[in-house]
Amino acid sequence: MSELTRFLLSESDLPKYWYNINADMPVPPAPVLHPQTLEPVTPDFLSVLFPMELILQEISTERYIEIPDEVREIYKLYRPTPLIRARRLEKALQTPAHIYYKYEGASPAGSHKPNTAIAQAYYNKVAGTHALTTETGAGQWGSALALACNFFDLDLEVYMVKVSYYQKPYRRIMMESYGAKVYASPTDQTQFGRSILEKDPNSNGSLGIAISEAVEVAATSGGKKKYSLGSVLNHVLLHQTVIGEEALKQMDMAGEYPDVVIGCVGGGSNFAGIAFPFLRMNLLEGKKTRIVAVEPAATPSLTKGVYTFDYGDTARMAPIVKMHTLGHTFMPAPIHAGGLRYHGMAPTVSALYDAGYIDAVAVKQLATFEAALQFARAEGIIPAPESAHAIRAAIDEALDAREKGDKRVILFNLSGHGNFDMSAYQAYLEGKLEDYSYPEEEVKKAMEYLPQVQLAS
Ligand SMILES: Cc1ncc(COP(=O)(O)O)c(C=O)c1O
Repeated sequence: MSELTRFLLSESDLPKYWYNINADMPVPPAPVLHPQTLEPVTPDFLSVLFPMELILQEISTERYIEIPDEVREIYKLYRPTPLIRARRLEKALQTPAHIYYKYEGASPAGSHKPNTAIAQAYYNKVAGTHALTTETGAGQWGSALALACNFFDLDLEVYMVKVSYYQKPYRRIMMESYGAKVYASPTDQTQFGRSILEKDPNSNGSLGIAISEAVEVAATSGGKKKYSLGSVLNHVLLHQTVIGEEALKQMDMAGEYPDVVIGCVGGGSNFAGIAFPFLRMNLLEGKKTRIVAVEPAATPSLTKGVYTFDYGDTARMAPIVKMHTLGHTFMPAPIHAGGLRYHGMAPTVSALYDAGYIDAVAVKQLATFEAALQFARAEGIIPAPESAHAIRAAIDEALDAREKGDKRVILFNLSGHGNFDMSAYQAYLEGKLEDYSYPEEEVKKAMEYLPQVQLAS
């Protein structure tokens, strides 16, 4: 075991391949369905929104997909990211556990999101796309894509959930600094946005609504604009696996192997990024690492949602996928982890959870901020509120290890820093945040609006 605190790889260790879990999925994937016909989609339908190379990645079953040189060159601005042993946190917790975190906040945009944004912008550029549209919750995804579009000289329109637009003005300015146009969603720019505003002029918006607006703009652009999604889809999860591939090498440098790997889940991409390479070791090499997804109690798509076919967005324009869902009509409470407020979960993460290959826990907002500050005061980094969910679970593991006298090795993904999330920390420090658990009855009600899928078996 190493005495080091930071485990740093050199540029030449930057992974050359992304890992595609679809090659090793122990459960067969469900088809992706057309939102109107409810029949399996064709690449033609998807090509209105995405360039062909990303569609091919979406359905690929190749185990390793080569990372283009142009993408690796930009990754080198911040990758490989450090793996850090949280020695001061271990001491503060008086735990025999060893806690390691992979720090994705080291990217220029401050989170893991550029890992896919750069790849998506690249494949769009190569396919001749001129502009992208997207949604953003907390603004992390929007700023990552703004950064990437700037590098590849693509225009970008971002539909930012209204509650975050006002909670996080500096994220908006960051996107604008990279050259993107940012709208507070729901907007009056789209037919769907206008229909929401007619019903509720004060709507706070939701990721589902913002996705619908961004999809509508791309789908009605006559091919000029494509749409880009920051989570949920297979190709997004694929691009994030650079995190886990690096972490495998870094744990090796540390001379340890994790007993438990933890990631927070919104749509599932940073979790999959760190977890899937370790899951491969479980599936193919007989390792027995426990893999834990952490979600907010206010958006418990895994722990309280239903595993079924649902629309990816509120307007029912995006494809239907089989996933753990709270229903596409879900309106989130305005909790301060904007990036974790999506109604559904990535189909692969959902299928693996359903089949028992991964675990999930839901944590409450106040306990999450308590863990965030404990981490910040021990390790120095102020985490993104989303990432703080993983910290909560990691600290709970370390405390459990203390109680049981276990020398447990814990690895979690610190998906981003919280330097633009000061309004959330201010609200917490001033005692203005509250806990909220999403009620079961609301999930039951939302199930009435599911698509009536009847697939020939
Ligand atoms: C810092 C951070 N972590 C996690 C997430 C959740 O997304 P995902 O589940 O796709 O990683 C977000 C989403 O915006 C984020 O900004």
